[in-house]
Amino acid sequence: ERLLAPSGPLSGRHVIVTSGPTHEPIDPVRYIANRSSGKQGHAIAKAAAEAGARVTLISGPVTLPHPAGVTVVPVESAREMLEAVEQALPADIGIFAAAVADWRVANAGAQKIKKVNGALPNLALAENPDILATISRRKDGRPPLMVGFAAETENVIAHAQQKLAKKGCDLILANDVSAATGVMGGDSNTVHLVTASHVETWPTLSKTDVAKRLVERLGEMIAGGRA
Ligand code: CTP
Ligand code: CA
Repeated sequence: ERLLAPSGPLSGRHVIVTSGPTHEPIDPVRYIANRSSGKQGHAIAKAAAEAGARVTLISGPVTLPHPAGVTVVPVESAREMLEAVEQALPADIGIFAAAVADWRVANAGAQKIKKVNGALPNLALAENPDILATISRRKDGRPPLMVGFAAETENVIAHAQQKLAKKGCDLILANDVSAATGVMGGDSNTVHLVTASHVETWPTLSKTDVAKRLVERLGEMIAGGRA
């Protein structure tokens, strides 16, 4: 397979990235989903490939082109995404940027639900697996460096620190997604890098530059024997 940078800071490393939303079917024509363009996750996959990594990008439905030099595995639902991640292991780094739907419809219809005299469908929800937590807590084959995201609308850093502990990952990029910030679907992002021991607030950057800076940090952590 062709590598973009055989001697970059992540050369010889396998990086798994999740990106985009998941779609959880209600019936064959309807679904529930989170808002996500996939821009940040795809930019990270591209930056990791440019740093020399072998990259597996597991992506929910997005309208973005496949980044050059990256193996793309398209999926729809959260459960398919988890299975694809497990199939892609082992890896040196897992970066889980997908906006995974927290719930799926437990009683999804095999046929299109029809409107009948104003009666409302009764949708029963079931909780989806937490992909980041499941992989971070694995006894065997946990990637040594696990990165998550935290999309928050208030108390951004405190919520990110709680998520880091709850999910068992090593690093969280936390961002403020309250409507005023325009992060959703936009091209820039203001993030805080949160680990168990420190918090770094980055300036507002393009999603491409957030990706490059993250990959640079991960390269340093790996070189420093952190993973
Ligand atoms: N995540 C995941 N699988 C899920 C839900 C979330 O892998 N079923 C990952 C996301 O990709 C992200 C991180 O967990 O890296 C945090 O996602 P977020 O939605 O902010 O956290 P939740 O734990 O779902 O909490 P809440 O939505 O209640 O804030
Ligand atoms: Ca969630």
